[in-house]
Amino acid sequence: MEIKTIGVVGCGTMGGGIAQLCAQSGYKVVVSEVNAELLKRGLGVIDKNLARLVEKGKIPQAEKDAISGRLKGTTSMSDFSGCDLMIEAAIENIELKKKIFTELDSICPKHAILASNTSATSIMDIAMATKRPDKVLGMHFFNPAPVMKLLEIVKTIATGDETLKTCQDVGKVLGKTTVIAKDAPGFIVNRLWIPYILQSIKLFEDGVASREDIDNALNLGLNYPMGPLALADYTGLDVVMFIANTIYERLKDPRYIAPTLLEKMVAAGWLGRKTGKGFYDYPK
Ligand code: 3HC
Repeated sequence: MEIKTIGVVGCGTMGGGIAQLCAQSGYKVVVSEVNAELLKRGLGVIDKNLARLVEKGKIPQAEKDAISGRLKGTTSMSDFSGCDLMIEAAIENIELKKKIFTELDSICPKHAILASNTSATSIMDIAMATKRPDKVLGMHFFNPAPVMKLLEIVKTIATGDETLKTCQDVGKVLGKTTVIAKDAPGFIVNRLWIPYILQSIKLFEDGVASREDIDNALNLGLNYPMGPLALADYTGLDVVMFIANTIYERLKDPRYIAPTLLEKMVAAGWLGRKTGKGFYDYPK
């Protein structure tokens, strides 16, 4: 199936990055937010990122203008009525995601594919909120979406082969390498990544080493681009805890139990870069 127009629900860190990536890759994009203020902020971040690429001589101004021309912001779900592929990147709340998919199921054309960028929610649970489970799957991007080279595609037992093939092809157009995972808790990356991040927080909580030494140890010892505590801050501590809790609920595996320190920091609203404070401070 040919994909011309992609709809993105949510213009936050992931939704904005996905919308930017899709428009940069030549697709017409409709991106939504729940209100005009959040939409303005999300589109502003995209414009800033694109302007940085112009400054760096990565793209000419004319291309930036063309990319912006392909990008349409909206606060009305009805504007998704012409989309061939939807990518949902709303907050990690299963009831909200089900409501969004039920609404998209009634708004989008019958041929449209409905994908979720969820980090850990069961795709089958979301798919059953629609009458087209064969056209529902996970398209899991990594932060920052325009840069990270991986697209993790999550298929359920109901996902159709053509749906899968079409999304693999879209992944290629977006310049991503795609991997396929079953709808298992945490899929591939988060299933492996989260215990590493949680153990890093435990090391810090138990006073085994300073935050800088923990991060430098992985940064320099394993050549990771970012240390685990800095990466947890970059990702959002609420997102890290959501993934840990979601996987623990389904597997009851103690490696996914969120450390008390993480729970306390999230309760305090110390969510990392997005709130200016996490394991490190991020002055505005
Ligand atoms: N849009 C476009 N380009 C961007 C960008 C954006 N939003 N953000 C960064 N870039 C580009 C920069 O232009 C730069 O390009 P260049 O090398 O061609 O000049 C390049 O990315 C590197 O950016 P910077 O020079 O600003 O900074 P760094 O070299 O420190 O790289 C980073 C930043 C790419 C974030 C790097 O630190 C990194 O790879 N960190 C690890 C990120 C990671 O692991 N993400 C996955 C988290 S897990 C996840 O997302 C799953 C979810 O379910 C939780």
